[in-house]
Amino acid sequence: MASTQQDDWWRHGIFYQVYPRSFQDTDGDGVGDLRGIIQRLPYVASLGVDAIWLSPIFTSPMADFGYDVADYTGIDPLFGTMDDFDALLEAAHGLGLKVILDLVPNHSSDAHPWFVESRRSRDDPKRDWYIWRDGAANGAPPNNWLSEFGGSAWEYDETTGQYYYHAFLKEQPDLNWRNPAVREAIYDVMRFWLTKGVDGFRVDVIWHLIKDLDFRDNPPNPHYVEGRPPHEKILTQYSTDQPEVHEVIAEMRDIIDRYGGRVLIGEIYLPLQRLVAYYGNDLRGAQMPFNFALLSTLWSARSVERLIGEYEAALPPGAWPNWVLGNHDRPRVASRVGREQARVAAMLLLTLRGTPTLYYGDELGMVQVPIAPGQVRDPFEKNVPGIGVGRDGCRTPMQWDATEHAGFSTARPWLPLSIDSAHENVVNLDADTRSILSLYRMLIALRKKRTELVLGTYEPIAAQSDLLLFCRRVDDKSITIVLNFGAEPISVTSSSVGFGRKILLSTFLDRDGELIDGALDLRGHEGVIVGADDHAG
Ligand code: NOJ
Repeated sequence: MASTQQDDWWRHGIFYQVYPRSFQDTDGDGVGDLRGIIQRLPYVASLGVDAIWLSPIFTSPMADFGYDVADYTGIDPLFGTMDDFDALLEAAHGLGLKVILDLVPNHSSDAHPWFVESRRSRDDPKRDWYIWRDGAANGAPPNNWLSEFGGSAWEYDETTGQYYYHAFLKEQPDLNWRNPAVREAIYDVMRFWLTKGVDGFRVDVIWHLIKDLDFRDNPPNPHYVEGRPPHEKILTQYSTDQPEVHEVIAEMRDIIDRYGGRVLIGEIYLPLQRLVAYYGNDLRGAQMPFNFALLSTLWSARSVERLIGEYEAALPPGAWPNWVLGNHDRPRVASRVGREQARVAAMLLLTLRGTPTLYYGDELGMVQVPIAPGQVRDPFEKNVPGIGVGRDGCRTPMQWDATEHAGFSTARPWLPLSIDSAHENVVNLDADTRSILSLYRMLIALRKKRTELVLGTYEPIAAQSDLLLFCRRVDDKSITIVLNFGAEPISVTSSSVGFGRKILLSTFLDRDGELIDGALDLRGHEGVIVGADDHAG
């Protein structure tokens, strides 16, 4: 039977990001591992999500906690063995969960044998696998490009008297994606994992892969604000988002399509208008270019409404939207918007049109954990200290229960636990029928039950001040979402939400089934989902 686009699992699915170091430790070293993830898979499945994405688990010196890969087809012993991975894949699939791996093709570790060879001599066969340049006449770096983690993006290498390019740490040299041999090597890596049965990749910094052929200087950023990370002083006009990158992504897409039912997700921090180009010509690019707009927008009804509208309008015909509220690089949503608004944010994420990606622990309302200077692990914070760029605070251990180390480990965890973990943990929040965890479970269940929430159109409804209103519609069935972004109560006329309809869910979880008669009154920080009574479909 011919399948339609609507059958693609990743369109109606929900993704859940696991940061392996912080999910569950089983060998008592204070760092999470694959066996730990296996142990906790039933919990993940019980949430009702469809896929897990694992941040890198490959062999790595861990200079950037796995985003510096020394063997793309090996499992780092810290996380376990290939047998553990195979067991994880089987267990996940057995529970109906897809598994997405993190592919890091822009750069390897400097400990990768490819780079070890490449730096040996100027005429090494692997020399052109990385980006080597002579310094400027005065011995300065070849151009003004900056590393995202501070300082010049060029590192001088004594052995051969040239510089190599690294968009991130100097321990993360960029691969040369203009070299066909590099492409084939990484495509082989993709085939290796796809043949094992993984369901797709989240591709790290995919918009970085191709650099300007002439390595022209980047222009200064006229909008740079003092106190922001130093790499923002220049724009990345020539170092990222080059037109030829779309050829590469189309090649990656061809590979995954040969396996059927797999998904290509791209990590892309670009303005919406440029982001949507990553769907590719004729949608032959990434199926899900990550949409991070909610991570940085001002948390107000009008600004969120505006960005949803801009995104919807920018999507190429047939492109499927997606939304992200948190990840391992950005401050926790509960700290960004506040604990009360975190519930509103959850309702927004799980009712918008497009595939949602959840970040582990956001379903518990986990907050950004303060990290004392002596506890810093993140190389970004170490290189650019004191201005708040540190990512450790959003990577702290999952809070499972009220035992010592929150059930995460028997040993002291690699990062401190949140002080609230004795209360804000899975066991406690599951016992509380009105907790944020219960809200996440109910929202996911409702999204599964009502086609409108998955496949329905997005229709904004005019609203003022702190109110965000929109409708999701399939044929004659519709659901209205009413979100109060403010602390004050607010009243909505029933003409906006429909007479004779019911509250299907409130973020407070205490008024389900309430008939809307006259006005709909919302409390401060309340969101509600309104619809006709449950019905088939
Ligand atoms: C993006 C990843 O999400 C981040 O954690 C990492 O530091 C950089 N890419 C470099 O790989």
